[in-house]
Amino acid sequence: MKPLHAQVDWESGVLSQGVKRVRRVSDMIGLYHDEAAEQQAVAEGDPIVYEYTTIELPEEANHVLFGTTTIFPGRVGSEYYMTKGHYHERRDTGEVYVCFSGQGRLVMETEAGQTEVLAMFPGSVAYVPPHWAHRVSNVGDDPLLFFAAFPGHAGHDYGTIAQVGFRLRVEEHGGEVLIVDNT
Ligand SMILES: [Fe+2]
Repeated sequence: MKPLHAQVDWESGVLSQGVKRVRRVSDMIGLYHDEAAEQQAVAEGDPIVYEYTTIELPEEANHVLFGTTTIFPGRVGSEYYMTKGHYHERRDTGEVYVCFSGQGRLVMETEAGQTEVLAMFPGSVAYVPPHWAHRVSNVGDDPLLFFAAFPGHAGHDYGTIAQVGFRLRVEEHGGEVLIVDNT
């Protein structure tokens, strides 16, 4: 294939030439801790939690897939809007995150029970090593925009997280960001 060139819209986070997908609260049922708040959000308009744009490239090991994500500000109950979170199907693949704007938390864990939370802020760069599940929460009042890149053959395993959940959740309590351990 030929090299390609694209551009990020700094306002929306959308990547030109990409395919944009949208995730609403109804796409994330069971992922938020407060089930009643989840149902209420769906009933009251089912807001968009985040959208992401990826450029369609071959899902092969010698390629690098990349895309941008915009998480809108908001909460379901006391839990901040977040991405679904996933392991890579190929557990031995990592990922790089670059934050453009907003304030977030990158929450990670391993199947062995290790956990890690890193702050995301404009200019922050985070590396998710192989074997770490990852999810991002928007803890600010503005959209959180970031860029991610990962090996083409990584694949996405959302099922494990949907089944077992994340050990940590990111909540707002009294105006403060609190990391709550589910275990
Ligand atoms: Fe990933």
